[in-house]
Amino acid sequence: MSRWIRIAAVLALMSWVGLATQQARAYPSVARTTKAACAACHVSPAGGVELTDAGKAYKADNTKVPAGDVTGAEYIGSNKCKMCHMKEYKSWSETRHAKALENLAAAGADTVKATAAMLKVELKGAADKADECVVCHTTGFHLAGGYPAADSTLNANVAFVGCEGCHGPGSLHKAAAKEDKKKTINRGVTENLCKSCHTPEMSPKFAFADYKAKGVHEIPAPAPAAAPAGK
Ligand code: HEC
Ligand code: HEC
Ligand code: HEC
Ligand code: HEC
Ligand code: HEC
Repeated sequence: MSRWIRIAAVLALMSWVGLATQQARAYPSVARTTKAACAACHVSPAGGVELTDAGKAYKADNTKVPAGDVTGAEYIGSNKCKMCHMKEYKSWSETRHAKALENLAAAGADTVKATAAMLKVELKGAADKADECVVCHTTGFHLAGGYPAADSTLNANVAFVGCEGCHGPGSLHKAAAKEDKKKTINRGVTENLCKSCHTPEMSPKFAFADYKAKGVHEIPAPAPAAAPAGK
């Protein structure tokens, strides 16, 4: 193997490992490191599986950070989704996601110590003030409109794993005309996304189907296949 090919292979491996390590921390971790809008890399302004050409280039080589001139969506808080999606809001509010930061604040000192040791982080103060913990227990951590927000009403509506923790920032979706609603929010919430928080360390019992059924919100069953013609 030529020396250059070997060097290129090592560099590719390094950037892959770099990306993989970033992804081990709650999506959209890439947005935190690059400060680019979701729409710079994702087809939907709320993120998700489909990447733009700039997003694909970044995935292949994480030194190729897209220019920061794309304006994107901001986090607006779960109470803003409530008025149009009452059913999901009500059932979500009964899940543990709705208490994720509260439960972090209420965790006993021994639990916090053991969790920190397991994650190999050193906490300087309370768990609910430590970035190392808060990142997975809130919505849009350190992103526009996300937790912590200067506005106290907004802050109270991102201080948990809210709607936008899975569906992405919703300001453009809220403002969109009816025909553009579906394009402006992340509809394809994947196992991969859950696992960016439900890591093997933090959530050893995680199983997608089981967890989706018990802890997201009511999800209507897929419509039954149309009855055959003539029936
Ligand atoms: C600099 C480019 C970039 C930016 C900016 C960015 N992402 Fe991503 N995002 C990626 C890449 C690359 C992946 C990994 C895709 C893969 O591995 O196939 C990804 C993955 C994701 C995933 C997981 C998709 C899945 O289900 O597997 C979500 C969700 C996501 N991003 C949301 C967001 C959100 C929300 C924002 C804005 C707050 C954002 N991203 C900003 C590049 C970016
Ligand atoms: C002003 C009303 C309104 C607000 C506010 C709103 N939505 Fe929506 N949303 C809609 C409508 C209408 C649709 C369906 C569009 C369609 O069927 O074409 C939709 C669709 C969706 C879908 C896709 C549903 C599907 O069929 O796949 C998701 C996910 C979603 N909204 C999440 C959110 C989240 C999260 C928020 C808050 C950040 C939010 N919405 C705020 C009106 C709203
Ligand atoms: C990578 C994301 C992530 C990080 C970082 C993280 N957590 Fe969590 N935490 C989770 C998930 C996911 C669960 C739910 C696991 C389950 O029930 O399967 C959880 C659950 C918990 C619970 C149980 C809550 C309850 O209702 O009993 C406590 C306590 C907790 N975490 C504390 C911490 C502390 C302390 C830190 C920082 C040292 C931390 N977490 C960092 C994702 C994370
Ligand atoms: C923990 C992740 C998660 C959170 C938090 C979450 N959702 Fe969802 N949502 C999902 C998943 C998973 C689906 C199903 C997608 C599928 O079937 O492929 C879904 C589907 C939906 C749909 C389309 C299906 C339907 O119910 O009609 C809407 C609308 C929606 N969510 C709105 C919301 C709103 C509003 C909130 C906050 C109150 C919210 N979601 C919070 C994961 C989440
Ligand atoms: C932003 C990080 C994050 C994402 C994304 C996320 N979760 Fe969670 N999830 C948590 C945290 C943190 C907890 C623990 C909350 C608590 O107990 O205080 C949790 C708890 C849960 C629980 C309760 C577990 C129990 O033992 O009762 C279920 C179920 C769950 N999540 C399912 C999902 C599913 C399914 C997805 C993807 C569709 C998902 N989560 C995405 C962070 C996340």
